[in-house]
Order: sequence, then structure tokens, then C-alpha cells
Amino acid sequence: MSEASPSYTIPFARPHVGKEEEEAVLRVLRSGWLTTGKEALAFEEEFAKAVGVPHACAVQSATAGLHLALEAVGVREGDLVITTPYTFTATAEVARYLGAEVLFCDIDEKTLTIDPREVERTLKDPVVARKAKVVVPVHLAGRGARMAELLEIARTAGVAVVEDAAHAFPVETPLGMLGAIGDLGVYSFYATKPITTGEGGMVVTASEVYATRVRLMRLHGIDRPVWNRYRTAGAAWYYEVVEPGFKYNMPDILAAIGRVQLRKAWKLREERKRIALRYLEAFATRDYLILPDAPEEHAWHLFILGIREDLLSITRDEYIEKLARRGIGTSVHYIPLFLMPYYRKRYHLSPDDFPVSMRVYRRSFSLPLYPDLSDEEVDYVIRSVLETGDAAYRKRP
Ligand SMILES: Cc1ncc(COP(=O)(O)O)c(C=O)c1O
Repeated sequence: MSEASPSYTIPFARPHVGKEEEEAVLRVLRSGWLTTGKEALAFEEEFAKAVGVPHACAVQSATAGLHLALEAVGVREGDLVITTPYTFTATAEVARYLGAEVLFCDIDEKTLTIDPREVERTLKDPVVARKAKVVVPVHLAGRGARMAELLEIARTAGVAVVEDAAHAFPVETPLGMLGAIGDLGVYSFYATKPITTGEGGMVVTASEVYATRVRLMRLHGIDRPVWNRYRTAGAAWYYEVVEPGFKYNMPDILAAIGRVQLRKAWKLREERKRIALRYLEAFATRDYLILPDAPEEHAWHLFILGIREDLLSITRDEYIEKLARRGIGTSVHYIPLFLMPYYRKRYHLSPDDFPVSMRVYRRSFSLPLYPDLSDEEVDYVIRSVLETGDAAYRKRP
């Protein structure tokens, strides 16, 4: 097989949508009601049931959901939001929407999620303890953050916990579903996520108070549901604006796709898991590969593989390039936020302050992992990863 003419073209991600999603969209288009309405309400009810909490609020993205969740727990100008730098910028940027500041704590090397000991240490600083409003763990790749410890630390310090569960559906744990354990949790239905509506998100919470606030701020700060205003005859036209809210409601076209995807979510997770287990088994045979932590409780949204550059004559970037030449799309999750000019400059951050994130970032890349990968494609990815590494292998001196 030649690198110049790869036998396959395997994109990094491919959404899993089919006939049922098409029919759902057509049903809504033909219904005459395109924006938020009964599909969105049904999606919320079904999702709440699926995660085992009373309230689910459909929104346009997880970014919107995180914004609303932080707003609901009372994050305001000058407050501190504690989170991981090993994430997408959405997790942190929403703090800035509200005028709050971001405080990053390094990750633990096993789970790649925020290290509770770092959070505890940070909260010992009296200024931080006074200003911190919320901790936002990210269940990176679908592997849960250390929630029991984080909850305990947060409760002791009197701060809220908002879970960024963008990668983590559906994952059952002894504490509840990932995303439904903290004060609020937020899922993403972006095109590449475990289930998708193209763009979309869901905020979940057990708290009536938070749910009411999220619903209010999701739609312009209007004090009552307006879905039925145009449907009912009579005096349903009156409403009041009680806050300067946002425009984050999910339209029915997307909610209808979400309802179909929700029904398939467990099956899709099983299919991703099956591929992840094949990767794990194949890659365990090489000492130059560093495997992701693989507990049973995992959404397998991403398969983040590490390489030991000390055992190879090529770098991580060259590894990625060689796989690309074989037609295999990969990605890097994530470029840590302290390397991004905005956060670096605003908070005067140095990579030396985040040794674990830096180490993991330098060695890692993510492989294709989605239900529509065929067995042959998985074989090809495995073969390509192993042949690339074997060809560059240099034994320990
Ligand atoms: C960890 C994490 N949080 C939040 C988001 C934002 O999700 P959305 O695109 O639905 O706004 C993403 C999206 O990639 C993400 O990976």
C-alpha cells in the first residue's frame, strides 16, 4: 500500500443520520410550525427522562446552554469560574460573556479531566474562595470527571457545579448520568457529537429554580411560554419582558431530529464502544502508544491516543501527517486554552503552570470513532497506526 494513493479516505468524523431523521424533518416542515413548539417540548420531556432529572431545556448549542447555566447559578461581573484548560474554548468563554474571570486548574493524567486536588488547592486562597462561584468540569472524550470528589470540594467551598457534558451522552454512573450529577449539566448536539441535531444543546437540572431561570433567559426574558400564542384563538397575545434575556431556543426542526437521535443514543454508544475496544486491544501491543483510560462508564465520543516520542523517530505532528497521507483524518483534542492568545494574554499564563495538560497535548491525537466506520475501515486505521509507529520505532538504548 502506498502513502501517495491511500486505499481509503476516512474522515475524522461523520454524522450518523438517516431516513428516520429525514422523515422527522419533513413532518415538521409540513406541520406549518417551524420554531420552538411541541417537538421541542417532547424532546425536553424525553431527554429529562433519559437522564433521570425533572428538567431539561433545549437550546441552540451547548455554548448557549453553558452561558445560561452560569447565569442561572448567579455568575456575574468580577466572579471567578474554575475550569479545565484542556477543553474547547466554549467552556471558558461563557464566563467572559457574563463579565466573570476564568481560573484554570490543571488536569489529572489518567482521566484528562480537571484534577480535584488542584481545585481544592486553588480554593484555599482566600481571594479565590471569596470570588469563586462555580466549578465547570468537562467530561472529556466522554470519560467522566472525578465527580464525587469535585462535588464534595464544591459543597465545602459553597460553589456550584456545572457539568460540561458536551461529549458525555449517554453515560450512567453510580451518581447518576454524567451531566445530571451537578447543579446543572449541559450537552451538545453539534454535528460531530454523540447525538446530533446539526447544532443544538440541552441544559438539565434537578432544580426548579435553575430551570425556571434558564427557561426565562433562553427566550428574551419573557415571563411565560409563548409557543402557543399564535395557535390559540383569543387573548393569548399578552406577555411581559422581565429581564434582558437571550435568543437561545431550539426550533422544532432540530428538536425532531434530536428525538430520533435520542432513541438511538445507546445503540450508537455501543457501536462506538465496540470500535474503541478494538483500538484498545490492537494498540496495547505497542509500548510507544499511550492508551486512553477506559472505564465501563464512557461515552466514547473521542479516542485520544498518545505516543511516546522518546521511543519514536517522528513527532506527534509527523505521525498525524503520515496518517493523513494514508487518507485518515485525525484531530487534536485540545490545544489547551492557556496556549490561546486570548487567555494567555488576559491571565498571563505560562505552559509551565500546567505541566500535565502540556504533556498530554504534546503527545496526543484523536482517531476516527463513529458508528458508521466499517470493520474494514477500523482495520485500516489500526494497521496504519501500527505500521507508522513500527517504521519509526527506536528501541530504548
Ligand atoms: C467540551 C465542549 N464544550 C462545549 C462545546 C460547545 O458545544 P456547541 O458547539 O454545541 O456550542 C464543545 C463543542 O465542541 C465542546 O467540545
